[in-house]
Amino acid sequence: MYSDKVIEHFMSPHNAYSMPDAHAEGSAGDISCGDYVTFYIKVDDNRLQQISYLVFGCCASVATSSITSVLAKGKTLQEALAMKESEIVEALDGLPEHKVHCSNLGLSALRDAINNYIIQQKTEVSNENSCSGR
Ligand code: FES
Repeated sequence: MYSDKVIEHFMSPHNAYSMPDAHAEGSAGDISCGDYVTFYIKVDDNRLQQISYLVFGCCASVATSSITSVLAKGKTLQEALAMKESEIVEALDGLPEHKVHCSNLGLSALRDAINNYIIQQKTEVSNENSCSGR
């Protein structure tokens, strides 16, 4: 049985859209069920200024992606990377035991997006430094 919060986020997902001008994106999938999510982020001054996602999956994966985007918005990259699956489940007033694994999906995709952003930033700095002597 799903909580009212899960139903609310499933029926009206927050921040569910593609972001073609994202600073980075990241994805995660669950091969056991085929569910898949991509998160998009924009970063300003080390904070997640904008977050969106597209998800193909179960009710719980939609609801957990939605609440993940809401909870992570405005956090620093480090704060967002430190978010735990248990926070996501708690914010939804719980998930049925067999659906708790779904809370990993959105968070994994968000972490992937943040890590991709950090790698991009390091690559840009490294390229600037290697070109600065020319
Ligand atoms: S059943 Fe696949 S993530 Fe929920």
